Amino acid sequence: MNGSLVVVDDVAAAFAQLVVDRTAASGAHFSLAFSGGSTARECYEHLARRSQYPINWARIDAWWGDERCVPLDNPDSNYRLVEESLLSKVGPLASIHPMLSDRADAAVLYDRLVRSAPPIDLIHLGLGPDGHTASLFPDSEGLTAPAHRFVISNVDPLGHNSHPRLTFTFAGIANCRAAVVTVAGASKTEALHRVLDGDLTAPAAHVANDDLIWLVDAEALGSHSAR
Ligand code: 6PG
Repeated sequence: MNGSLVVVDDVAAAFAQLVVDRTAASGAHFSLAFSGGSTARECYEHLARRSQYPINWARIDAWWGDERCVPLDNPDSNYRLVEESLLSKVGPLASIHPMLSDRADAAVLYDRLVRSAPPIDLIHLGLGPDGHTASLFPDSEGLTAPAHRFVISNVDPLGHNSHPRLTFTFAGIANCRAAVVTVAGASKTEALHRVLDGDLTAPAAHVANDDLIWLVDAEALGSHSAR
């Protein structure tokens, strides 16, 4: 696998501390691309604890690494997930760039926006049980997106993941200065070991940023922990 594997007791707490450390070490602004999913929600609920995780949110630029093509107030929206768990609790940010995914030209617009901005400092990614990350699903067209595209539309051809999506491509992820993948719980053990074994049929195994950290718990690592 690419990057550094860090086994932690509490993935959400470790994620929040990593963001504190990275933002403290950065300059004027720090850009963060958010993920979706239940692990991400727990990460952001931790991050919202301002006394425990002091961050100057007025310096933070918020992006999304993927989104479901639903209205921003839809319960399945990743924007709504981040708004509920974090943005509503931490006060104003420097900028917020939701993926306006219910527009027909949303992918092209976001792709242009991302490519016109400096590289995102840190993208947060999850790992699905099927080995997907962001909304780059196994056997999906998004896996072979044109190299110049950082954001595309995509769907799960196997139907395991709901809604048409917008997602960063592998090129878009690689363009970020750093990436952190959070993996928690026994349901991810098989997918995580496919990544650890370099099985490229698991889309997450293609993430290869020079600065890449996998924050995983012992449950996700499973009985192979002694590897
Ligand atoms: C999404 C996410 C997706 C998620 C993984 C893990 O929009 O669903 O971006 O990539 O991170 O599926 O989700 P869980 O943490 O809920 O297992």
